[in-house]
Amino acid sequence: MRAFDSERFAEPPTHIAIIMDGNGRWAKARGLPRAAGHQRGAEAVRVAVESCGKLGVSYLTLYAFSSENWKRPPSEVDDLMALLRHYLTREVNVLHGNGVRLRFIGDRASLAGDIKSLIEEAETKTRANAGLTLTVAINYGSHNEILGACKRIARAVSEGALSSDSITEDVFEDFLDTANMPPPDLLIRTSGEQRLSNFLLWQLAYSELVFTDTLWPDFTKRSLEEAVGEYHGRDRRYGTRRG
Ligand code: IPE
Ligand code: IPE
Ligand code: MG
Repeated sequence: MRAFDSERFAEPPTHIAIIMDGNGRWAKARGLPRAAGHQRGAEAVRVAVESCGKLGVSYLTLYAFSSENWKRPPSEVDDLMALLRHYLTREVNVLHGNGVRLRFIGDRASLAGDIKSLIEEAETKTRANAGLTLTVAINYGSHNEILGACKRIARAVSEGALSSDSITEDVFEDFLDTANMPPPDLLIRTSGEQRLSNFLLWQLAYSELVFTDTLWPDFTKRSLEEAVGEYHGRDRRYGTRRG
């Protein structure tokens, strides 16, 4: 019984979400332009995806660009979009080869046309893959996602396709960008900031939160294992009594 319990204890989280923060500070500390930090950040993404695959995680959700990040100087937004283009062009085949299923959340309508096409191609190409589901949040904000869900539900009710009494939590979740995905078990935020910055507010209701001072470009497989170790030390109670 004990052996069985400890085995179960060591099971990896099914879903890890990460707020990848600290690229700018990483660059600043080295006297480099912020773009260099973002570039190193993209390399850390590769490592995180591989490491999650090795740990047996089923879902990895990464916050790449928030709906508030448009407030940054245009040159930085351009650098981030260029990096995204590069990632979508160069990495998708490798991810596809590794059985990764790619999914994107966030409002894609206001992204550049070519980026929108690359996103759609990546989703279509990798749709049938059975490995890690990698969800990338681009132009994502929880408030916008929840409002969008409310508007679509209101429309369905006014068209008679849905009755207001049948709107359960499960039905509501079907209208979110993350439909058909389990909620994150573990949220990691790097760079010492301890806030959610409009990320997955509904979905993180019962997630374990791990904050680390490590800046995102320095985040390694070891950093991920440490965060998972901390997660395993937590007692998830979901409102029940301890013990
Ligand atoms: C995270 O790094 C990347 C994005 C938000 C796109 P930051 O660019 O926020 O880095 P800091 O917080 O300024 O160090
Ligand atoms: C959150 O980081 C968004 C991403 C990591 C993409 P920010 O750096 O934009 O968050 P704030 O502004 O510090 O809250
Ligand atoms: Mg930041």
